Amino acid sequence: MDWGMKNRLSQLIQSDGKALFLPIDHGYFQGPTRKLEEPGKTVDPLLPYADAIMLTRGILRSCVDPTKTKPIILRVSGGTSMARKEELSHEGITTSVREAIRLNASAVSLSIFVGSEHEHESLLNLSNLVNECEEYGIPVMAVTAVGAELEKREARYLALCCRIAAELGARVVKTYYCKEGFEKVVRGCPVPVVMAGGPKVDSELETFEFVHDGIQKGAIGVNLGRNVWQSDYPVAMIRAIRAIIHENATPKEAHDLFDSIKKGKQ
Ligand code: R5P
Repeated sequence: MDWGMKNRLSQLIQSDGKALFLPIDHGYFQGPTRKLEEPGKTVDPLLPYADAIMLTRGILRSCVDPTKTKPIILRVSGGTSMARKEELSHEGITTSVREAIRLNASAVSLSIFVGSEHEHESLLNLSNLVNECEEYGIPVMAVTAVGAELEKREARYLALCCRIAAELGARVVKTYYCKEGFEKVVRGCPVPVVMAGGPKVDSELETFEFVHDGIQKGAIGVNLGRNVWQSDYPVAMIRAIRAIIHENATPKEAHDLFDSIKKGKQ
């Protein structure tokens, strides 16, 4: 592996082999998502606890201070919106590699939509992006997207998506956690896997349990958005998740930490 590629990956994946990415890219197709109406305000208190942030060039330029930030995972796919849910899989590449370099991105990220009407196009988008990014030593993180079809989040489908993403050259794959068979999803993917959270779940403990279980089953960490910043206590959430990922905390220990931060004791 080239020095530049190794260096960028090491900015994202920490020396313990684990990673906590914080995505705030949701607006690229959802618009001003709840609690992300002002992305700068949402992300500012969370930055110290994230290993990297994932976002689009527009939000990076307008909402993130370039003098005090974290490694950037630049979302470079899009071109669709929630106004046409049936077309969510019809993404193209929205941002050039030149722009990613100018913005000093540590990685770029793009969605693939396996099994959708635009599967072929999204897989070629990934391949073309990898072709270009490898020239410059920039890792590509593939996002195995399901659009509005959240029921697709089961092991057989996720394993298919992750493996295809790795085969086409993604250096990291972001996918969803699933309760049954997640270890098979990770085992079939020869590059590091991080978990997204999806829509906010009912309790904090539920989040801590799935993050912990996913790590036990081989994921290197998370790319977790709404379950962090839609919480009433986002800093407590991200610190508790960080403890699971980087300090081997159990879900109960993470929950105790969450409670004590929430009550202002830490
Ligand atoms: C999709 O909107 C984005 O790629 C998000 O970065 C991804 O879904 C992770 O965020 P969340 O944990 O909110 O699902």
